[in-house]
Amino acid sequence: MPRAGRRRFRFGLGLLLSGLVVHNAIQLQRQRRAQARDYRQIESLFSLFGVLQVRHPLPRLRGWAVSPDFAVLMVSLILERKPGCIVELGSGASTLLAAYALQQVGSGRLISLEHDEAYAAASAEEVRLHGLEGFAGVRHAPLRRLELEGQSWLWYDRALLDDVAEVDLVVVDGPPGNLQRLSRYPALPVLLDRLSPDAVIVMDDYRRRDEREIVSRWLEAFRDFRAREVATEKGAIVLRRPAPTPRRSP
Ligand SMILES: C[S@@+](CC[C@H](N)C(=O)[O-])C[C@H]1O[C@@H](n2cnc3c(N)ncnc32)[C@H](O)[C@@H]1O
Repeated sequence: MPRAGRRRFRFGLGLLLSGLVVHNAIQLQRQRRAQARDYRQIESLFSLFGVLQVRHPLPRLRGWAVSPDFAVLMVSLILERKPGCIVELGSGASTLLAAYALQQVGSGRLISLEHDEAYAAASAEEVRLHGLEGFAGVRHAPLRRLELEGQSWLWYDRALLDDVAEVDLVVVDGPPGNLQRLSRYPALPVLLDRLSPDAVIVMDDYRRRDEREIVSRWLEAFRDFRAREVATEKGAIVLRRPAPTPRRSP
């Protein structure tokens, strides 16, 4: 092989090997990040099963369902605040975990609105299998058109909440984002009048652009609420009105 050809060959080989090294380093970094994410979810599962007396296999978590780290956040809020009434938007594994937390507290009731009839029936059956009927009820709430702030939205049939007067915790995990833009926006404006003064709103999927915009709009429209972001797998946000600070005597 002529000298120039050998040089080109060595240069090409060097380029290929450097490419492989960079590719492997990126792959390794991705794997480590995935392992760290998975480890955090496993840790959260241990934490949940350490606290709650789960009596029947749970539906799968992650994916469409809440991830274990969001469940830890939700369960911690319930154990700490002992809500008398929880409204959940979007039923599933979260319904069961929240109901187990209420059972642990020994009081309170969760009402889960579910727009999908088959899914509502499946969630209600899960509640029965886990023996949690005393703490949670799943209500099939078909989506209805709703006018809010000059915009039309599809949201759960509000008549299903006619018997609900004071809500202490709202878990926002529906309706699904593929229905409309900012799908979960109506949650706060619709439920506002029924919230107890120190009610907490917790929403999953805060890493998504829609959920971030929903929270910006909420904070702009309802100025007495403050938000705290929690770095869970899918992102979470906790909203509440800060307790009034006691006046100092002159
Ligand atoms: C984000 S999911 C709610 C998940 C629920 N909070 C849980 O932890 O399991 C929102 C809605 O999507 C629907 N859904 C749940 N799982 C689904 C699936 N695998 N495929 C399509 N829709 C699903 C249900 O109607 C549910 O109310």
